[in-house]
Amino acid sequence: MEGLVKSLTDHYILFDNTYAGKTVLVTGHTGFKGSWLALWLHVLGAKVIGYALEPPTDPSMFDSINLSSKITHIVGDVRDFDYVSTILETYQPEIIFHLAAQPLVRLSYYEPRLTYETNVMGTVNLLEAVRHTPSVRVVVNITSDKCYDNKEWDYSYRENDSLGGFDPYSSSKGCAELVTSSYRNSFFSKPDGVRVASARAGNVVGGGDWAVDRIVPDCIRSLQANLPVSIRNPHAIRPWQHVLEPLSGYLWLGSLLWTKGQTYAGAWNFGPDSRSNITVQEVVEKIIKTWGSGTWQASSETGVKLHEARFLKLDCTKANNLLRWYPVYNIDQTLKVTTSWYREYYRRTVDMYDYSIRDIENYVRAALMQGVAWASSADGEGEV
Ligand SMILES: NC(=O)c1ccc[n+]([C@@H]2O[C@H](COP(=O)([O-])OP(=O)(O)OC[C@H]3O[C@@H](n4cnc5c(N)ncnc54)[C@H](O)[C@@H]3O)[C@@H](O)[C@H]2O)c1
Repeated sequence: MEGLVKSLTDHYILFDNTYAGKTVLVTGHTGFKGSWLALWLHVLGAKVIGYALEPPTDPSMFDSINLSSKITHIVGDVRDFDYVSTILETYQPEIIFHLAAQPLVRLSYYEPRLTYETNVMGTVNLLEAVRHTPSVRVVVNITSDKCYDNKEWDYSYRENDSLGGFDPYSSSKGCAELVTSSYRNSFFSKPDGVRVASARAGNVVGGGDWAVDRIVPDCIRSLQANLPVSIRNPHAIRPWQHVLEPLSGYLWLGSLLWTKGQTYAGAWNFGPDSRSNITVQEVVEKIIKTWGSGTWQASSETGVKLHEARFLKLDCTKANNLLRWYPVYNIDQTLKVTTSWYREYYRRTVDMYDYSIRDIENYVRAALMQGVAWASSADGEGEV
């Protein structure tokens, strides 16, 4: 085993060691969150099978860490039921994380059919294939905080609030939630049935995201090109969390579903604490500070004005109480770690695979200091 990975697995017990040696399918492994998840699972000793289209951006997290050389990389479409079924039959995964999606709100206005076909029928295809694959014990479907019917109020949203979505992306995620709960109720509800959960998180930041129309990648692209960062809504408040935060929630949820069964099936919110809800302007200023140079300017929107929902707060009491899951990084750490990743990427002096594993290790160390439930030290230090 590689030195860095070994040092992590030797020193920490993570997620009750559930993933070591397991066959885990990650759909959407060529994307931003999926690459980080596949990397973390690889570090945990899982046999990772990735199923997705080619990376959605260039550059990409997937290529930056050369993930195709570490896991089984399959290029496939979740709209292709036959191929999804073949892959499940061939690899017989035990645990599945479903992240493959068309994830962009603005694109969903231009490509609504693609969005629904991918996000809704993609989920149906996967769950249908799971029905015919006896090896599968756990499925975690990654949807979004946007799956809720956004009533534009100040209260936080709980898992049993009504689903909805104004734009095609948001409503496709509400639909994906309904599909997931229908399959759970109809086909997987027996005590020995497949344990199916869904995970709802919002606005995630971290190194390796180059998607269009997302503030951090937009900001980094401008800084790298020595251009002022152009901000559409500097005073808009958004929730921000580092990508490793929801991933720790997904992995812990998957582990508890594996070890403890149907008690943990259902829907779960994984959001930041409210101190991480800051304005876009503050985010950009913090990024510029860590980057070391740069300026920003307010821009007026050109072209078609699309409906932009008011930001929606997640109530994470369920995950706090039943999973003992909490965010680890404050907003300054989140943005510093994120910006530093990109800075190292563009300096091209370090191997980003090693660097990203160190990011995971630093996050685990910070989590241990806070006594999270999903990590303990194999040396007996800092145990909870
Ligand atoms: N990034 C965020 O802030 C955020 C917030 C809430 C929810 N999410 C959800 O998390 C998941 C991952 O998002 P991301 O930011 O990593 O997106 P991303 O665009 O970086 O990755 C999407 C992945 O899905 C794959 N994909 C797209 N269409 C596909 C298809 N038809 N068949 C197979 N694979 C397909 C892509 O190849 C890629 O691997 C998505 O379900 C998204 O809705 C993301």
